[in-house]
Amino acid sequence: MDEQNTISRRRFLRQTFAYSALAALAPGSLLTAGAQAPPPDPNATHMFMIGDWGTDRYVPQQVNVSQSMQTWMDRNHLTPNAMVLLGDNWYGKMHGGVNDRRWADQFENMYPANKFPGPAYAVLGNHDYEKGKTDKVQLQLDYPKSRQTRWTMPNRWYSMLYPQQNPVAKLIFLDSNLPGTKPFDPWPWSYLMSHEDADAQDQWFRAELAKPREAPFLIVIAHHPLFTNGVHRDNPVLIPRWDPLLRQAKVDFYITGHDHDLQHLEFEGHPTSFVISGGGGAELVDWSVDPRKRGPFGGKVLGFSHLELTKEAVTLRHITLNAQELHTFRRTPDGKMTILKAS
Ligand SMILES: [Fe+2]
Repeated sequence: MDEQNTISRRRFLRQTFAYSALAALAPGSLLTAGAQAPPPDPNATHMFMIGDWGTDRYVPQQVNVSQSMQTWMDRNHLTPNAMVLLGDNWYGKMHGGVNDRRWADQFENMYPANKFPGPAYAVLGNHDYEKGKTDKVQLQLDYPKSRQTRWTMPNRWYSMLYPQQNPVAKLIFLDSNLPGTKPFDPWPWSYLMSHEDADAQDQWFRAELAKPREAPFLIVIAHHPLFTNGVHRDNPVLIPRWDPLLRQAKVDFYITGHDHDLQHLEFEGHPTSFVISGGGGAELVDWSVDPRKRGPFGGKVLGFSHLELTKEAVTLRHITLNAQELHTFRRTPDGKMTILKAS
């Protein structure tokens, strides 16, 4: 690891307080509570993202989030082009394999094709790596081979230009279940990817980032956050491994789930906006850092995130139940970030 690129705890804290000071010095320009964001443009490309959604114990909460997504699209007269499933797709048992009823109950019918006609791009979370009678990692790779479905996960890590025609963003989907994350998920039923696979993925990730930009925006999607105000805390395995890569490639967004809340974190001098969207259905959890101290946004709420893409800007909205818009920001290809709605 290049020590110059390794973010130290002290440097990280300095950045954190620098961001807080920046926000405090610029009232009205960064944090305008109550301001209304412009409505979504129906002619843009739209992706709806959920994390930590395939719960075995909180299905009514998953239903509420799905209904909020549908209310939001009806209100704004839009149909999402795609969904992004940010991991912890399947908590608990899937003993029926590709024919388990949960596929229909909690995916195909939960997000009906007449409302969500596009593909659903999935990454793997720690609950997808639970040991059991069924290998849920392999199951999620096998499911789309078994039938016609919107479920899309061609590999544990993959990339695409999106949309395919006239792309606005390069999307890189990663498996963040790296060796060493285990002390933070110390459950006996969890396992992790092998060192060999983790190294192979990193080699691939570096090669993807090294390619010349093929679209205005670069977006990395995984399950585990590098930085979070949530209960799982900043990840000491992922930060030294991936943060230098995000910085060097000037990745625009790093989007994850894992903590059951909605967050947006910015750090002064860092080119990347960090987004957590883990409110898809599972039980809500507490903060480890007060989001008022390290922000700009944290909401301990159920909900989803709406990514609106045009070549001129990418807009991310955090939406809670009953289609209530909580926090919205926009990035332009020059790296400028503007908060359009603050709660
Ligand atoms: Fe998780």
